[in-house]
Formats: sequence, structure tokens, C-alpha cells
Amino acid sequence: MNKIYYAGNRIYFRAIEKSDADTIVAWRNDPDAWRTLGQMNPLNRIREEEFIDALYKPGGDIVLGVSLTEDDRFIGMCGLHRSDPIAHSATFGILIGDEKNRGQGYGIEATELMVKYGFEELNLNRIELCVFADHPKGIHVYTQAGFVQEGVMREAYYRNGKYHDVLHMAILRREWTPK
Ligand SMILES: CC(C)(COP(=O)(O)OP(=O)(O)OC[C@H]1O[C@@H](n2cnc3c(N)ncnc32)[C@H](O)[C@@H]1OP(=O)(O)O)[C@@H](O)C(=O)NCCC(=O)NCCS
Repeated sequence: MNKIYYAGNRIYFRAIEKSDADTIVAWRNDPDAWRTLGQMNPLNRIREEEFIDALYKPGGDIVLGVSLTEDDRFIGMCGLHRSDPIAHSATFGILIGDEKNRGQGYGIEATELMVKYGFEELNLNRIELCVFADHPKGIHVYTQAGFVQEGVMREAYYRNGKYHDVLHMAILRREWTPK
């Protein structure tokens, strides 16, 4: 069976299955991930399976698994949420699950591949995202992929006992340079 849905270089996108739920729950409940994702409550398998089910119904968000081309290892997920068919826009999100798989360039490649998918396959005109102002690695990855900062939502998020600024970033199709 060909698992590859959308091929990149070192990574590819594939469908997410219910059997991935336990892996994803462990990733998302890891404190290093949920702090930067802005997740408020712990997830469990039941919630995650419902989420996966909803993805494959009409109008569901696009969320795809990220796997390594080399050995098919499932390392993360990334998606385009809340697609607006009139403005042709959607909101980007990403998680490279295990700490040991971060910092190897997979996050940048997955971000660039999802931007390509959004513009070339979904006919989007704009892809936007929110990132904590104190998440320099995330901001760097998005900037590398061509996103530009559009504004700051001051003290828009409360976490760890204090308010945090949230940056709004976006890339327009006409600003995008295919690689
Ligand atoms: C953020 C995330 C997607 C990045 O993926 P990754 O695979 O770790 O990132 P990459 O290895 O592709 O790239 C990291 C880049 O950030 C840079 N970087 C690392 N730490 C940094 C820091 N503190 N400040 C600035 N840049 C930093 C690296 O040098 C590298 O850039 P380079 O290739 O130009 O040298 C991943 O760490 C993750 O999923 N984290 C948990 C969930 C999350 O934060 N999601 C995003 C929410 S907005």
C-alpha cells in the first residue's frame, strides 16, 4: 500500500488513522508541546479519536501525518484549519511530536510542504497562523517558510501565571516562492 499522500524530500504527508491516536495523545500531552501549542486541557484517546473521525467528514480541517521518507516513521502532524472558501484562507498548525525528532529541519520542511499544498492543491490565497511572541524557534521556522508578521495581539494568552503576547503571521500566494 502506498502510504504517501503528498511527497516532500525528507518527509511526506499521509492520512492520520485512528490507530495513531495513542501516539498523538502522548505528543500533545507532553508539557514542552502543549505549552507552545496553547492547549488548555489534557487530551485522551477518546477525544483524539473523535478529532480524527471529524477530519475525514465533509468540511473537516486538513490535518495530515508527517512521516520520514527514509523509514516511514511517523514524527508529527501539520494542518490547515478553518478554511474559508470565500477569502481562500486557512490557519496553519504544526507539531513535531518527539523532542528527539525536533531540531533536524523536519519542522521547516513540513511547514514549506504544507504551504505548497495549500497554494498549489487547495487554491488558497492566504495562510495565517498565531505563535507566542516568546516562542523564537517557532517564529524562526515560520519566517524561514516565508510567513511575515502582521501584528501583535498584546497579552492575548494566559499561561504559566502571566499574560503573553501572540504574534499574527501570514503568507500570501503572491509572496510565495516555490522551491
Ligand atoms: C516548532 C517546531 C514545529 C519546529 O520544528 P523543528 O523540526 O524542531 O524545527 P527545524 O529543525 O525544522 O528548525 C528549527 C530552526 O529554528 C532554529 N532555532 C532553534 N531554536 C531557536 C531559538 N531559540 N531561537 C531562534 N531560532 C531557533 C534552528 O536553528 C532552526 O533554524 P535553521 O535551520 O535556520 O538553523 C517543533 O519544535 C514543534 O513541533 N514544537 C512543539 C509544538 C509547537 O511549538 N508547534 C508550533 C506552535 S506555534
